[in-house]
Amino acid sequence: MKLLDGKLIAEQIKIEIASEVKEQFLDKGLDPPHIAAVLVGDDPASMTYVSAKEKACREVGFISSVYRYPANITQEKLLEVVDFLNDDNDIHGFIVQLPLPPHIDEHKVIERIDPNKDIDGFHPVNIGNMILNQPCFLPATPFGIITLLDRYKIETAGKNVVVLGRSNIVGTPVSILLSRKSSPGNATVTLCHSFSKDITAIAARADILIVAMGKLGFVTADMVKKDAVVIDVGVHRIPSTETKSGYRLKGDVDFERVSRKCSYITPVPGGVGPMTIVSLLVNTLKAAKKEVI
Ligand code: GUN
Repeated sequence: MKLLDGKLIAEQIKIEIASEVKEQFLDKGLDPPHIAAVLVGDDPASMTYVSAKEKACREVGFISSVYRYPANITQEKLLEVVDFLNDDNDIHGFIVQLPLPPHIDEHKVIERIDPNKDIDGFHPVNIGNMILNQPCFLPATPFGIITLLDRYKIETAGKNVVVLGRSNIVGTPVSILLSRKSSPGNATVTLCHSFSKDITAIAARADILIVAMGKLGFVTADMVKKDAVVIDVGVHRIPSTETKSGYRLKGDVDFERVSRKCSYITPVPGGVGPMTIVSLLVNTLKAAKKEVI
């Protein structure tokens, strides 16, 4: 078994981005790419994600700002914040960190984002262009997954890909990306969800198994074909006395047993997570260079 080392690949891509920032922006006297994040409430996972993003921005020479609001912000006020960021010419791209509190309609907020600044690739215009294989911002986690497959030269054409989980952020877009006529892509994709029958048998036929269910240790060795490629998108915090933070991260896959059977696997942490962050940086660079729309 070989590790799909997302941390390593993300570091390599950050070096590439940093040199582009220098050559395409700083050396020409231009301001570097500027990314903003809107953070509502104090969800620990969201706070961790946003600080990881800020750190990555500093590493590549981007400017980053965070707009923090309490969980009781009104929808109207949040839409005003989106309008403000849409209109601010100093900001090249921004994200509204999800999930939002239940009284806010996420779809309305996402729809309000200018598609040209939607570096999360969540706006219906970007999703539509993704399906049509047209220039767009790809959602960061699926983009990170296909980049990882690409950098490890893992063939996807003609392969059976099984995706477990159909979220708007991961499962649905990654299933579309891998079935598109492109490289990586050209795979035969099966998308499993809560209504799917006999997930074990379907998963066991996968050459490439992508797991984004949000269920700790859901995928066991009997669900994985020998020499399959396994991508684990799950992130779960397990209380631990052995770490400074007081928790350890684990995925949706039983790593110990599955790693003995598969050809490649992403670790948690250090697999998909760093690839998600770096993909957001790639999107921001494209936004700043006005490459997409
Ligand atoms: N919440 C979990 N993943 C993401 C992401 O990629 N973008 C945003 N905005 N929120 C998230």
